[in-house]
Amino acid sequence: MKKLVFLTGAGMSAESGISTFRDSGGLWEQYPVEAVASIQGYERNPELVQRFYNERRAQLSSVQPNEGHRLVASLEKDFDVTVVTQNVDDLHERAGSHKIIHLHGELMKATSSRNPNDPKCIVTLPADNPVIKMGDKAKDGSQLRPFIVWFGESVPMIASAIDEVAEADILVIIGTSLNVYPAAGLLNYANLQCRIYLIDPKDVPYDQTLGVHHIKKGASEGMKELCELLRK
Ligand code: OAD
Repeated sequence: MKKLVFLTGAGMSAESGISTFRDSGGLWEQYPVEAVASIQGYERNPELVQRFYNERRAQLSSVQPNEGHRLVASLEKDFDVTVVTQNVDDLHERAGSHKIIHLHGELMKATSSRNPNDPKCIVTLPADNPVIKMGDKAKDGSQLRPFIVWFGESVPMIASAIDEVAEADILVIIGTSLNVYPAAGLLNYANLQCRIYLIDPKDVPYDQTLGVHHIKKGASEGMKELCELLRK
């Protein structure tokens, strides 16, 4: 089986009704990114940050995976598929994908404020009340915080993601502005034989020498076109 690796970003979930970050009307226009998505922001005002992610979780329970997520999962019939995602939602999981690397954490999980990457402290929040309150404690006694990789923090899953991309026969990038490192650098690890596709309605900056095939469509329509191309 050929190895197919997806690298997905906020545009993957846009058609499910989750805002992207940097498009006009995106989340970072409504909220200052350094206030709600940096470790300094959390240390300055943890209540505000907890409220922001509690709201994101409430929104997540009201949305569904879209056709794009479902088509990504359906390719597991014919390919050895890995999804590397910058998204913290669980829509790839809910669409049926099995091998998913979350580079920037997972919204439905919580962890320790003292040692966020300690596996003993990472817990899944209850689906019927996915809320973290100030005073809720992690296993190590510290305040429970969102299991999100914020700006200023390390990205522990990047090493596994690099290994996956380096072995890919086909790499498909969907709905990311490729602004945030180290995720944006992942396509540089593709081997010379790897075919690279990009699905995004807009132009995205990438190294032109990589020979990327740009499908200039949204995630669902773009995935339909990709499935046709892969069938040939
Ligand atoms: P961005 O908001 O930067 O980029 C979204 C991309 O999706 C853009 O290139 C859009 O053109 C594209 N897009 C919009 N609608 C689409 C659709 N229907 N189908 C396909 N593509 C569409 O989001 P990311 O690149 O994911 O990190 O952002 C990377 C990281 O920055 C996020 O993981 C987040 C943020 O700060 C953290 O919060 C830690």
